[in-house]
Amino acid sequence: MASREQFSSKTGFVMAAAGSAIGLGNIWGFPTQTASNGGAAFVLVYFVLAFCLAYPALMAELIIGRHARANVMTALRGISTGKFTYRLGTAVGCYGVITASLILSFYAIVAGWMLAFLLESVCQILGWSDVSKWLVSFSFERNIIFMALFMMLTISIIAKGVTGGIEKWSTRLMPLLIVILVGLIIYVLIQDGASEGLRVYLLPEFSQINPRLIIDAMGQAFFSLSLGVGTMLIYGSYLSEEESLPALGAAVTLVDAGIAFIAGLLIIPAIYVAKQYGAEIFTDAGQLIAGPDLIFQVLPVLFKSMGSVGMVVGLAFFVLMSIASLTSSISMLEVPVSLAAEETAASRVQATWAIGAIIFCISTLILLNFDALFGFVIDLTTVYSQPILGVLLCIFVGWIWHRDNLLAEIKKGHPEIQGGFFWKVWPTYVRFFCPVLIMTAFIQSVV
Ligand code: PFF
Repeated sequence: MASREQFSSKTGFVMAAAGSAIGLGNIWGFPTQTASNGGAAFVLVYFVLAFCLAYPALMAELIIGRHARANVMTALRGISTGKFTYRLGTAVGCYGVITASLILSFYAIVAGWMLAFLLESVCQILGWSDVSKWLVSFSFERNIIFMALFMMLTISIIAKGVTGGIEKWSTRLMPLLIVILVGLIIYVLIQDGASEGLRVYLLPEFSQINPRLIIDAMGQAFFSLSLGVGTMLIYGSYLSEEESLPALGAAVTLVDAGIAFIAGLLIIPAIYVAKQYGAEIFTDAGQLIAGPDLIFQVLPVLFKSMGSVGMVVGLAFFVLMSIASLTSSISMLEVPVSLAAEETAASRVQATWAIGAIIFCISTLILLNFDALFGFVIDLTTVYSQPILGVLLCIFVGWIWHRDNLLAEIKKGHPEIQGGFFWKVWPTYVRFFCPVLIMTAFIQSVV
């Protein structure tokens, strides 16, 4: 086998892993979940769960990945200890690869909408009102064209490999994302109405902490850190042995949670500024609008009402959403592509195009049966499959993998970790607490 690529630097890895983690889940999902779940109370629970549950699960993936230096299926087989666990590794690996592909199939549709709205902002600036209208109206033609465009962007980056594709583009796009995000926050916070939004976002109502809120926060934390499906495992497999995994994992968790938090400083005040301009921001049931209507109706009211400045602000917002989607989607496509490129005779480029084409077909199928399939695929993958896969990966690390090998892997790049807090607590934590906590929350949500 040809020698395997690696991230060229620590920064490259952090940018790529943070790029995977930071996506629509942070900029859209987190703020709106916060608003509909009691404001700062949700933020608090989310932060606790992100560090106490999602971070240990992230570590499980990174450690398996770097040890096995392979795609998710081969990696799980590699740490198996007998026939049964080998087969289990194959099954869990397959389940992860299918889930990552299905997540990409709906994510590409939503990201396509972001591209369409981005182009619409450009057309508005140019005064092309007919094209503008078409770009913002929901139609099969628009949806499929922009989904295809987004898939082509994703494919073209992944076909270039780890350093020339994933690392290069994550390192370019992530700083740009942060600059746009901060610029937009400053602009929105000086508008009338923003302080009301800030109050909703930052003042906790502890009475709202209930099982539903905890489950929502857990689901959000898992989705946001891209857990369960093998994305972080494969990124870990491209990491050098000189790096300390616990420190890098903590950096990624911190950056992801931090960006989610500051995205809330943009979105919630922006909703309340839009209210000043006449946008309807509550549903009939009195809840703050959170779904697609928020991004595609409430915020555009805000942009339109600001005149020519609003056109540029709108453009910057949809550029931000498109970048966030792209750095996440490349990490999803890498999961099946790494499997195909490592386990079949296909080259990386061939594997990327073939798998990209399959995912395009699945997305098309979803678009053709939108009402029946769109919500179903989202629930199937993010509500059910991600937590189940998270538990299975913890079981692999805690119960199946030989403990000495696990400890040896943790020590690489960070020998002084031996005897420290992480060393003493994490192996037991991931063996008992993580699976039990995830399962408890999961069963509660399903029942
Ligand atoms: N973490 C991404 C977000 O917050 O939008 C979503 C995601 C990326 C989920 C990669 C799963 C994945 F494998």
